[in-house]
Amino acid sequence: MSDEHQDPENPVAKLIGIVFLISVPVVLIVMMGIVGIAFLGGSGVEPKEESEGEVAVVPAPAPAPSEGAPKGNAPAKPAPAVEAGDAIDPAVMALGKTSYALCAACHGLDGKGLQAGPALMAPSMHGSEVILGDPDRPLLVVLKGIQKENMDFMGMMAPLAAGLDDEKLAAVLTYVRNSWGNKAPAVTVEQAAAARAKFSDVNAPAGIKRAELDAIVEAHK
Ligand code: HEC
Repeated sequence: MSDEHQDPENPVAKLIGIVFLISVPVVLIVMMGIVGIAFLGGSGVEPKEESEGEVAVVPAPAPAPSEGAPKGNAPAKPAPAVEAGDAIDPAVMALGKTSYALCAACHGLDGKGLQAGPALMAPSMHGSEVILGDPDRPLLVVLKGIQKENMDFMGMMAPLAAGLDDEKLAAVLTYVRNSWGNKAPAVTVEQAAAARAKFSDVNAPAGIKRAELDAIVEAHK
């Protein structure tokens, strides 16, 4: 028994093996041929009308993409450049966005002011005159804060001079001046450093009074 299986020189076993190995693929090929002929023969007789219809449809969509491609590419490239703003360094915008995490808790990631029940934590930055005007005004606000005099907003604009170095201070203001549709020149690191130096004599531990903002800026020109 075991001899028959293990002996590779058994001629009968060899012959059966060879015949089996050859016959399996041959039978498969013949079967596929029969099925293929049946399929072609069947479809060749009846669905002639369908194949004529398909021929007419296929060439139609082909010219459309080649016509549309050059038109589609042309306006797609200038669009992001316009949105990016006037030559604002993308690295400064990136640093500003990161630093804005300090502001988002009240002003919201979308700059609209975070909703706190019926009120806002802080005012919207979209189109804010203080943010978009003379850079000294937002610099003074962030360095010294705004004294809380009413409950218009749930939050308080705290002095944040200690939390931002000059580079981050300039970047975060550049970011808010050029996000959400806002558009204003970048605030430079030099402007931030100069503001920190000249406003250092403003003694307002609880923040400056909102009404005195312009007067303080003018007094330090
Ligand atoms: C804890 C809450 C809070 C945080 C954090 C905060 N703010 Fe404010 N911010 C306020 C509130 C409240 C006001 C409005 C104060 C007022 O006018 O009484 C304000 C006002 C301002 C204004 C004046 C806007 C205007 O149109 O009058 C600027 C500019 C400003 N914040 C910038 C920032 C920046 C930049 C940051 C982050 C570096 C920041 N704030 C972080 C609460 C906050």
